[in-house]
Amino acid sequence: MSLLEGRVAIVTGAGRGLGRAHALKLAEHGAKVVVNDLGSSATGEGADQTPAQEVVAAIEAMGGEAVVNTSDVSDWAAAQAMVQQAVERFGRLDILVNNAGILRDRMLVNMSEDEWDSVVKVHLKGTFAPVHHAANHWRLESKAGRPVDARIINTTSHSALFANIGQANYAAAKGGIATLTQLAARELGRIGVTVNAIAPRAQTRMTEGLRELTPEQEERRDPEWIAALVAWLASPESRHVSGRIFEAWGFGYSVIESWQHGPQMEASRDPTAIGESVGRIVGFARANAGIDRNTWLNP
Ligand SMILES: NC(=O)c1ccc[n+]([C@@H]2O[C@H](COP(=O)([O-])OP(=O)(O)OC[C@H]3O[C@@H](n4cnc5c(N)ncnc54)[C@H](O)[C@@H]3O)[C@@H](O)[C@H]2O)c1
Repeated sequence: MSLLEGRVAIVTGAGRGLGRAHALKLAEHGAKVVVNDLGSSATGEGADQTPAQEVVAAIEAMGGEAVVNTSDVSDWAAAQAMVQQAVERFGRLDILVNNAGILRDRMLVNMSEDEWDSVVKVHLKGTFAPVHHAANHWRLESKAGRPVDARIINTTSHSALFANIGQANYAAAKGGIATLTQLAARELGRIGVTVNAIAPRAQTRMTEGLRELTPEQEERRDPEWIAALVAWLASPESRHVSGRIFEAWGFGYSVIESWQHGPQMEASRDPTAIGESVGRIVGFARANAGIDRNTWLNP
């Protein structure tokens, strides 16, 4: 039996790049897929149905089943309709992969209100809206006595989690997604839903031309390396893994460790009496991790 036989998935932003690879990999391993993609530019302008339609055609050409959804993931009502579409078309929903995203990079002093709002909306609300509506579907299934063994896989970013300069909007949104992942894992575990996130590194239109790559570096940035982990996380085999964030690319997978409680001191009502002790606990605390800390993952 295939890894994902009988399972139904929604993949957002599945018309291109990573989402396309996730949708194809899920279908290759037996899942039926709702292929969502608004078809916008990399900075979020415009709309085009063709990318989603082409992915559905590719899945059908390999003998799989898929359906197009071209709605904006950050539209609350459309996210609900997307969940309903999966259930009406394929009879169930088991997997939600939140992947859609845009970039509008700028140093924070120059960032406009619209650049902030649009990036935070697509990533953060565009993750929460499908999570909310899918979770409500699974809650009703669970209440009706039908067993739920469902998966949410969100997309965060190492450049956001490790505070890459020039991406204040993106970092705030992706950091929010990482914490939302941990919170959702805690809230939804009791109804049979696991929630994890990936921080991918891939060669897509989002990262094209950022730096020169050797042929090996380019090959290891093929989205398929990441899609394989997503497909496993989407499967029944991953039931014991929840609330985790994985860095992923063709050079390897690693678990990003969470915020930790650090060194402590006694509190005071007097700000003039604490400077030395604050200096001591800051000195004892581990430095914030840099983007390239995992050197084995960054040849
Ligand atoms: N490529 C990387 O190295 C990298 C690194 C870290 C994180 N990510 C994240 O991975 C995800 C996929 O990125 P990618 O590199 O494949 O980019 P991409 O631009 O190739 O694909 C993103 C897709 O999302 C779609 N989309 C955008 N806004 C949408 C909306 N509101 N509703 C529905 N669809 C929408 C676009 O039409 C596009 O097809 C993003 O969340 C991105 O932030 C990518």
